[in-house]
Amino acid sequence: MGYIIKNIKALVQTESEFITFRAGEAMKNLPFIENAFLVVVGDKIFDYGGMSEFSIKKYASVKEKLEVIDATGKMVFPSFCDSHTHIVYAGSREKEYVDKIKGLSYEEIAKRGGGILNSAKRLHEATEDELFEDAMLRLQEMASYGTGAVEIKSGYGLNMEDELKMLRVIRRLKESSPLTIKSNFLGAHAVPMEYRGNQSGYVDLIINEMIPLIAAENLADFVDVFCDKGFFTVEETERILMQGIKYGLKPKIHANELDYSGGIQVGVKYGALSVDHLEYTGDEEIEALLHSETMPTILPGAAFFLRLPLAPARKMINAGLPIAMASDFNPGSSPSGNMQLVLSMACIVFRLLPEEAVNAVTLNSAYAMGVQDELGTITRGKIANFFITKPIPSIEYMPYSYGDNKVEQIFLNGEKIAF
Ligand code: NIG
Ligand code: FE
Repeated sequence: MGYIIKNIKALVQTESEFITFRAGEAMKNLPFIENAFLVVVGDKIFDYGGMSEFSIKKYASVKEKLEVIDATGKMVFPSFCDSHTHIVYAGSREKEYVDKIKGLSYEEIAKRGGGILNSAKRLHEATEDELFEDAMLRLQEMASYGTGAVEIKSGYGLNMEDELKMLRVIRRLKESSPLTIKSNFLGAHAVPMEYRGNQSGYVDLIINEMIPLIAAENLADFVDVFCDKGFFTVEETERILMQGIKYGLKPKIHANELDYSGGIQVGVKYGALSVDHLEYTGDEEIEALLHSETMPTILPGAAFFLRLPLAPARKMINAGLPIAMASDFNPGSSPSGNMQLVLSMACIVFRLLPEEAVNAVTLNSAYAMGVQDELGTITRGKIANFFITKPIPSIEYMPYSYGDNKVEQIFLNGEKIAF
């Protein structure tokens, strides 16, 4: 099966080359074609161009039946890549949300056994099937807002059995969801109760037992550490990353959300694919990132929900860095996977131009989860994950009109998705 989508008001993020990401000034570059067509064959983008060049004869040799869709007044964007989520979880945490409104800080809630440990307790009580079904619904909801690829972390298990349970759920999601999914082992998300006072014992467990077993079962693509004040130190992070790398897991870490933790530097030192959060990013951190291939990733949902100081996105781009943005969908600090909202916050809160913001949630976030060769742009040969919008007046309207869903039709792997 295939599709010819014609009369597209604007086909956005077209790129003939396979590029890695856009950085600095180049983040303002968002190529698009007005009055365009897009041809999909099988699960891939086959061709695209301006309607004036369109000729059906060109596709005569294509064996698949090509259904024609008229997209007059509508735009096409590549699906969003959400490179940082924690969508496998049990229950919600709105009680803590009210505690926060009453004035308790994220760290105070965590110290009382709330926060991540609260989710760990509930995850322990949930079955694999329950976790799978809940996460599947979240994926569908995210897809309905235009997301086509998701990185999912473990980290609410915090013991061997429950971390494995989470990672097996992620494996099932990979097998049964049409979205592209990457799996990240985040055993070092918090220190579980039974290791309070013996944090190094828990780090030893991660290094000596969890990583080897997870790698042997091929359950993770990446390894993550919450390297921050009150969580894991730079030294502990180094030990975990070294072991992860030894077992073939690329680092992607939580860094500098709560303080100048050294997390960015240690991520860069170990070739992390991305360092994420980055509220505490100064000149030294920017300098380290400039000499690296690590994608700085900002999570506007968590910053908004926790009312954190803002990562200096503008300063980072002006210094020549790329920026990716992701949802951080999780029950504690960002209970939403709506990437259209992330796009709007990129512009409204972080003052990115709409072009920069679209790059942050498509190509750059694809890089941040290692899928830039398959997704993130409209490029011949890439996986056909994209969406057709409702009729909208301009590209800028996407971030401008925040809070409602502008997506009308989703395509994943070249197939129309119905919800
Ligand atoms: O990315 N910062 C650390 N971890 C998550 C929060 C998880 C939770 O509170 O459950 C985050 O924001
Ligand atoms: Fe996170």
